[in-house]
Amino acid sequence: MGKHADLLARHKEVLPSWLALYYEDPISLVDGDGRRVTDAEGNEYLDFFGGILTTMSGYRVPEVVAAIKRQADRMLHTSTLYLIESQIELAEKIAGLSGIPDAKVFFTNSGTEANDAALMLATQYRRSNQILAIRGSYHGKSHSTVAITGQKAWSATSFSPFSVSYVHGGYKLRSPFRHLPDHEFTGACVDDLRDVLSIATAGDVAAMIAEPIQGVGGFVTPPDGFFGAMKEVLDEYGILFISDEVQTGWGRTGEHFWGFQAHGITPDMLTFAKGLGNGLAIAGVVARAEVMDALAANSISTFGGNPLATAGALANLEYVLEHDLQTNALKMGNQLKNGIHHIADDAPEIVEVRGKGLMVGVEFGQTDGSPDPALTARVMERAKAGGLLIGKGGLYGNTLRIAPPLSITEEEVDEGLHKLKAAIDEARKE
Ligand SMILES: Cc1ncc(COP(=O)(O)O)c(C=O)c1O
Repeated sequence: MGKHADLLARHKEVLPSWLALYYEDPISLVDGDGRRVTDAEGNEYLDFFGGILTTMSGYRVPEVVAAIKRQADRMLHTSTLYLIESQIELAEKIAGLSGIPDAKVFFTNSGTEANDAALMLATQYRRSNQILAIRGSYHGKSHSTVAITGQKAWSATSFSPFSVSYVHGGYKLRSPFRHLPDHEFTGACVDDLRDVLSIATAGDVAAMIAEPIQGVGGFVTPPDGFFGAMKEVLDEYGILFISDEVQTGWGRTGEHFWGFQAHGITPDMLTFAKGLGNGLAIAGVVARAEVMDALAANSISTFGGNPLATAGALANLEYVLEHDLQTNALKMGNQLKNGIHHIADDAPEIVEVRGKGLMVGVEFGQTDGSPDPALTARVMERAKAGGLLIGKGGLYGNTLRIAPPLSITEEEVDEGLHKLKAAIDEARKE
């Protein structure tokens, strides 16, 4: 039995059946350098998924590794009962970068927990348990975040602390309003929002939560200004807007540092996770002080923003800013997207190429346009066999998610495109 087969058998014995694994024959990644990883059987891959958009700067970045080692040599943990200088410094930086006036930051260990905290703040601040979420959304795995996740495949229970209404997002390709030009499409979704507020809520909704580009939903990208138009209605009601920047933050979309900036708005809160720690468990929520300070009871976070995570995250954020990885995401993203459009010219099964910066979605459909998850899965397998790791998502599991680290080079983009084309060509023939 090979190493991977052995690990899979042991995994199945002691880990939950619902812990999703990629590939017919799952792999274990054991080493990484730059944008390349090696598995436990010695196979090498170009990594265009970065552990779900999380290894943002690349593997083994010396500055980040050194900061982690320095901190690990002293102490790993103290808890939020004590002042943590690196946590304060990181909060100062993120508050400034957020664009949210009078911002405060609460650190957590995962995106799920960050969204939990944002929902807690919104419902307390507004004294309402009503939430608006977007169809096709994904916000986490806890009881409260599953309740605002608009995908059956990721919602294990309908029990919810909230009264949730789902509104239209920007998934134009399969929307009933798809025939409309962008501004009219946005207008139709805004009209629907007004309807939902009148029909399904008592009006005093606490918040709307939205991903500027849906991650798990398949890199669904609404027209620019979409959430700005939605927010105009929210403002009439005093409803807060929470931007879930777990996938779109830190410059990944290339044109902006945060996804919400494509919509001409400043959110009341934003949540972040994934890329900040380049793999360290760190996430959080940013909110205006009056919203952040709305909780009457005490709280702690044993691990949230601990010395190790914040020292590493600070070094990583500095690396991202100093090397202007946002601009690299824009340039490399354009190269990647153009290349994929080129591939799509000869592959009619590709029904849409979408996304921004280094967040490119490739949706596959049958000749009648209906989703083709089987072909998508075959492309994933072929890409792996050819030495390229990519992701998958979408409401119907029929969208490739291509999201390399923000430090990717021109040569690596070309190499990835070459491997992707080969994978698509082979999968189409199977
Ligand atoms: C947009 C978004 N929000 C929240 C989460 C949950 O983050 P975590 O897995 O760190 O709990 C994810 C995870 O994929 C995500 O994509």
